[in-house]
Amino acid sequence: MSRLLIVSNRLSVSVAKRGEGVVFRPSAGGLATGLASLSKLYERIWIGWPGISSEKLSTAARDQACRKLAERNCYPVFFSDKQIDDYYDGFCNKTIWPLFHYFPLRTMYEDRHWNAYKKANEAFCEAVLKTAQADDLIWIHDYQLMLLPQLILQKLPTAQIGFFLHIPFPSFELFRLLPWRNELINGILGADLIGFHTYDYVRHFLSSICRIAGIEHHTLGRLTVGNRLVKVDAFPMGIDYQKYSQAVQKPEAQKELSALRDQVGDRKIIISIDRLDYSKGIIQRLEAFDLFLSQNPQYKGKVTLILLAVPSRTNVEDYRVLRRQLESLVGRVNGEHGLLGWVPVWYFYREVPFERLVALYNLADVALITPLRDGMNLISKEFVAAKADGRGVLILSEMAGAASELGEAITVNAHNKGEIVKAIKEALQKPSRVSLFAN
Ligand code: ADP
Ligand code: F6P
Repeated sequence: MSRLLIVSNRLSVSVAKRGEGVVFRPSAGGLATGLASLSKLYERIWIGWPGISSEKLSTAARDQACRKLAERNCYPVFFSDKQIDDYYDGFCNKTIWPLFHYFPLRTMYEDRHWNAYKKANEAFCEAVLKTAQADDLIWIHDYQLMLLPQLILQKLPTAQIGFFLHIPFPSFELFRLLPWRNELINGILGADLIGFHTYDYVRHFLSSICRIAGIEHHTLGRLTVGNRLVKVDAFPMGIDYQKYSQAVQKPEAQKELSALRDQVGDRKIIISIDRLDYSKGIIQRLEAFDLFLSQNPQYKGKVTLILLAVPSRTNVEDYRVLRRQLESLVGRVNGEHGLLGWVPVWYFYREVPFERLVALYNLADVALITPLRDGMNLISKEFVAAKADGRGVLILSEMAGAASELGEAITVNAHNKGEIVKAIKEALQKPSRVSLFAN
């Protein structure tokens, strides 16, 4: 059996300090969920950052973390506070993330962030070299590690290297804004197989390498880079469907579900679930719900929006500002529309356990998922999978990668509040327990 060496910024589990020791919790986000659904065909080794600064752990706690992670085939790459500041919060989440999600005005261009990004990619390369064996398949993930394929290729010229980008690849007009565009393209081209969620992202990437590196693809997605053949293609990421559809039947989820049902009574439920990120369009979505209630007062007291936001990237100022904006808006909407005995928006800022998440999906009449831009969006797929009883409507932004697969959802322009209001009304008017999708 070949070994699959997964390399991603974040490990599938994150380490947190408890007393003198450490505890582990599953990492939030699409990458961890998507890779958890991989087939067991390969022996899996995972290299990544454990989500905590090396300075926050004593030597003993760090050794304990390494030992426990090794039992799960996970090998940590540690960073100091400063490295996390410049590499993860800096280049990854103040430069690449906003630019690739079409927010050029939020994008920072700082040499010290770029230098930290290069160093972090070199640190991951060293960790791979320590762990890799001759026949390993090395699979590198996401925008945090775009230089890594080339770094590994230089050290292990015969290695088989894959690279998958979990976020959109933007149009060349955006990508060309990056002072470091040549280095990033060259870094990715170190892989033999380069994957994206959708054909649009593939097209954007092919156009960028043609304009930046002068490399044209001969047949769709096949390139000659030096003396190597490189393949570029779309591989839309999915979820473990059975895991979500079967979980609803299990006693833990049923218990959660019946507790939730007792709380909501016969009100219709709309859910909004995301990491708290400006790319997810949460503010615009809530403004649309506000407009819906203003234009359709007959629904007051009859529908509740459960808004669940997972804390994310809390050291980045834009994310803190977003939290303040959201919480003030939730307060205003509840203050303006609420009635005695009815709160229009139930807001939760936290992660929830898997069983509760699945129960919420199953409970909801409508999932309102309206990112302004999203590489894929697994929440929409999880919602559908948890609806084994065939009840519920998905309202999905056309800017989510998943929209090109979930064609039966009601698709909306996430900036068009009028359209979202119309979609909410249409979804709520669908008779319950008939069909999974809108049509
Ligand atoms: P992203 O990768 O940008 O975070 P996705 O929609 O692809 O977006 O993936 C989000 C993942 O995080 C999903 O697998 C979802 O189940 C999980 N998740 C989202 N919100 C919560 C929450 N409040 N508690 C637990 N898990 C969550
Ligand atoms: O989907 C994009 C992504 O950055 C993944 O790499 C990650 O799983 C998720 O979003 C959460 O982000 P972070 O690792 O920064 O918490």
